[in-house]
Amino acid sequence: MSFLTLDQVSHYYFSPSNYMKALEDISFSINEGEFISIIGPSGCGKSTILSIIARIIEHTEGNIYIKDEDVMHSSVQIGYMLQQDYLFPWKTILDNILLGPKMNDDTTEETANKALQFLEDVHLLGTENQYPSELSGGMRQRVALLRTLITDPDILLFDEPFSALDYVTKLKLENIVAKMVKMYRKTAILVTHDLGEAISMSDRIILMDTKPGRIANIFDVPESIRNIEPFYVRRHTEYQTLFDHIWAQLSDDTVTERNQQYERDN
Ligand SMILES: Nc1ncnc2c1ncn2[C@@H]1O[C@H](COP(=O)(O)OP(=O)(O)OP(=O)(O)O)[C@@H](O)[C@H]1O
Ligand SMILES: [Mg+2]
Repeated sequence: MSFLTLDQVSHYYFSPSNYMKALEDISFSINEGEFISIIGPSGCGKSTILSIIARIIEHTEGNIYIKDEDVMHSSVQIGYMLQQDYLFPWKTILDNILLGPKMNDDTTEETANKALQFLEDVHLLGTENQYPSELSGGMRQRVALLRTLITDPDILLFDEPFSALDYVTKLKLENIVAKMVKMYRKTAILVTHDLGEAISMSDRIILMDTKPGRIANIFDVPESIRNIEPFYVRRHTEYQTLFDHIWAQLSDDTVTERNQQYERDN
């Protein structure tokens, strides 16, 4: 069964004197446990899609279902992680992670132990009584991930969570996030500008076009590289082939002979 379905979703932003169509006819489905990435030029509506799924804004046209229920009436828990970590500087790392459970009056010992287990999973055990200012950017993003995971969301939405980090930290974090998503069997959508990141982390990639934002193509990542750690995926020939294929469409919208050959071969 499909976990999340967007069916011909369009969205307009209105101002008192004007309006603009940000999304046109967006349709796709995600199965439970699937990891998809959305890539495309700046302004094509990637963040708008995530905000709509997270129910932060209401879409103008079309339907969105989570487990066959209208998204607006769904009780499904959604976790949202952004480029900035938004940790509270005056709270310890553990208190930052336990923010969601505290708001839900779930302050049991079990939840605190789960937070410590999470910290161990991401190699941060020992930092629980420190403050965010004592941690590096990559460590803080790991804490932000745990704060999102602790509420046990059914779906995780990532909006460029690694883009403010240096390259090495980013690669390490991709591995950790991929491991945690798999280990805790989460469904996830990642928005990124980094095609390599999209290929190495996902099962499928949605390529968007702009003005108005719409889906240009959807690519399956080959099975053979899906369950490999993101860092090592980049060494495979299947990775390079898919990279070149999508890159050709990103940089040139005429279908080249090479693309047609790829379609025939795959
Ligand atoms: N609150 C808003 N009010 C009006 N227009 C908006 C608003 N938010 C986004 N837009 C417009 O909608 C379009 C899509 O924006 P969105 O932020 O979803 O794009 P994006 O693909 O996430 O871009 P980027 O890669 O730069 O983050 C853009 O033209 C943007 O200017
Ligand atoms: Mg965005």
